[in-house]
Amino acid sequence: MKCTIYAKKQFVVGPVDKRLFGSFVEQLGRAVYGGVYEVDHPTADEQGFRTDVMNLVRELDVPFVRFPGGNYVSNFNWEDSVGPQEQRPTRLDLAWRALDPNQFGLHEFMDWTKKVNTEAMMVVNLGTRGLAEARELVEYCNHPGGSTLSEMRKNHGAEEPFNIKMWGLGNEMDGFWQVGHKTAEEYGRLANEVGKAMKLFDPTLELVACGSSSGYMPTFPQWEATVLEHTYDVADYISLHMYVRNDEDDLMTFLASSVGMDRYIETVISVCDYVKAKKRSKKTMYLSFDEWNVWYHSGKKDREQPPWVVGPNLLEDVYTFEDALVVGSLLNSLLRRADRVKIACLAQLVNTIAPIMTETSGPAWRQAIYWPFYYASKYGRGTVLDIRFEVPSYDNETYGTVPYADAIMVHHPEGDELVLFVVNRSPDKTMDIDLNLSGFEGNPRVIEHVVLDHSDPKAVNTSQQPDEVVPRTITPTDGTLQGLQAPVLSWNMVRIAL
Ligand code: AHR
Repeated sequence: MKCTIYAKKQFVVGPVDKRLFGSFVEQLGRAVYGGVYEVDHPTADEQGFRTDVMNLVRELDVPFVRFPGGNYVSNFNWEDSVGPQEQRPTRLDLAWRALDPNQFGLHEFMDWTKKVNTEAMMVVNLGTRGLAEARELVEYCNHPGGSTLSEMRKNHGAEEPFNIKMWGLGNEMDGFWQVGHKTAEEYGRLANEVGKAMKLFDPTLELVACGSSSGYMPTFPQWEATVLEHTYDVADYISLHMYVRNDEDDLMTFLASSVGMDRYIETVISVCDYVKAKKRSKKTMYLSFDEWNVWYHSGKKDREQPPWVVGPNLLEDVYTFEDALVVGSLLNSLLRRADRVKIACLAQLVNTIAPIMTETSGPAWRQAIYWPFYYASKYGRGTVLDIRFEVPSYDNETYGTVPYADAIMVHHPEGDELVLFVVNRSPDKTMDIDLNLSGFEGNPRVIEHVVLDHSDPKAVNTSQQPDEVVPRTITPTDGTLQGLQAPVLSWNMVRIAL
């Protein structure tokens, strides 16, 4: 099968905001306790942070991490998580029905972000709490000193303000499962007032209003329209969340998940622009895709977990090779609208639906989905080109016409390099890639072709076999663009020097 790709230097989508490669650590399952934080682990540092996990997080080069939830945040009291650790209360987390010892709190998280070279995105509780607590948290975190709350932070060991720039105004407030669930009107009003207060404190803060918790919610997309009508002036982003699954074991539908993501993004952009027009506003609303991933493997096991324990085994999806292909194509979708999607979080980072897994007291390893994310984060930063491609397609009941290729190209003007990310969805045909480049000077040559493929779509990495699904390099020795091929069912990254 042939895939002809056309790229012209002058035709661009826009620059990639590095925050497209963000991630998420929620106080959920073993993400924190037994994941990033395990005091007795052989690799733990003086603060109890697992250095084996930190090494992998650094390797992924995640520019920011969203914290502390997720559903968890809607019944979280931030004050419980600061001050001397031995004096912090143990709470019941109603979202995940777990025991929360508050040992890894706000200061520990901020220290950890520094150690892994990332930034924080903090979400405020708009479920059980509201404006007063959000305002106080921002002051505690970001005010240099002289006020009671900023001095309290200093007394708790952080002389310098945390300077957290990105803030989420609650989480999935449209969800019936959310503690403190609200209607769009209730949430929109509250989010606007909270946002207003936060921007009175610091107008440079970047605020994310809650969109729908998925494009399948019955209130989507009216929720977005109503919320934005309230919050258009204070919010900078509207959130999108999407988890994809393959319960029916229908590979061709599952592989087309990114078509669904593309449509979801387009719809939310349309709603943003509708509200912009209605308000006669000059401001453009951007998108924060702050939860996305594959999530469905762990369902049965999760239901068997006993409640009210610290660090329960929850949402520990073990990812297959086919999941990695889907994650690779979802990354392409995010890049495809890099002009509007500025923030995104692979949900999540460690143990809970995560690219990094650990065994308590044991090793940390990379899941299959780690690899497309690693390469996209490392090489997907630059300017997305508005490419076109011709390739055969297949008919799918859920998504309609689905091309066999999912391709995106990023130009790095500084390094004078093009990076092509392409997924071959065909289960039986190799894809010959015919690249038509125009407007680029020089002599384009392939300097690296990384392939992730496997004969078994269900292959997984485990602690015993951490390298079952790993990429390989098939770079042609002469660097020619001729003969480029994406193997059957594969994710590919092709780096082209110009
Ligand atoms: O990421 C897991 C959960 O998924 C989050 O807590 C919630 O926001 C979403 O429903």
